[in-house]
Amino acid sequence: MPHADASNFSTSLSKAEAYSQLLASLTSLLEGQRNWVANTANAASLLWHMFHSLPPPSSSVNWSGFYVLDPTDPQKQLILGPFMGKVACQTIRIGKGVCGAAAEGEGRTVLVEDVEQFPGHIACDSDSRSEIVVPIKSGGKVVGVLDIDCAEVGGFDGQDQEGLENIAELLGKSCEW
Ligand code: SME
Repeated sequence: MPHADASNFSTSLSKAEAYSQLLASLTSLLEGQRNWVANTANAASLLWHMFHSLPPPSSSVNWSGFYVLDPTDPQKQLILGPFMGKVACQTIRIGKGVCGAAAEGEGRTVLVEDVEQFPGHIACDSDSRSEIVVPIKSGGKVVGVLDIDCAEVGGFDGQDQEGLENIAELLGKSCEW
């Protein structure tokens, strides 16, 4: 049974410490559970609470969640998965927007300092000013993406990229997709 305290992040933690706590909590939540919906739902919650425990700009995160390959058209489309934040676009074509760019081909992390400078950015929430999207891979293939939006320009740095890539890797190998 997961412990709700896993969502508590002390405001005295550094970003590196917060990511380590999140990874440890998620590792323990994933023990004995391989369902991707359950696991990404808990990951979205942990991410939301972690970002809001940190100083700005991290505390200005306004969306944390997942898009996965749409089972009705997995070659061409992502569909909305579990998330925290305002309601979002239900489907995104592979190659379109930041999520579609991260999911295309072999998959790559896309860190956008300023969404107004990213051609084709899809504005699900007009508050979003920066964004990072990390592909999730299983068996070497992209199965979905982890997407975080921030209401400030420059909301994410290399430490976020590393921390989020670790989370995506853990989810990729620990779930049935
Ligand atoms: N901005 C994303 C769309 C998804 S939302 O941010 C939740 C994009 O350009 O792909």
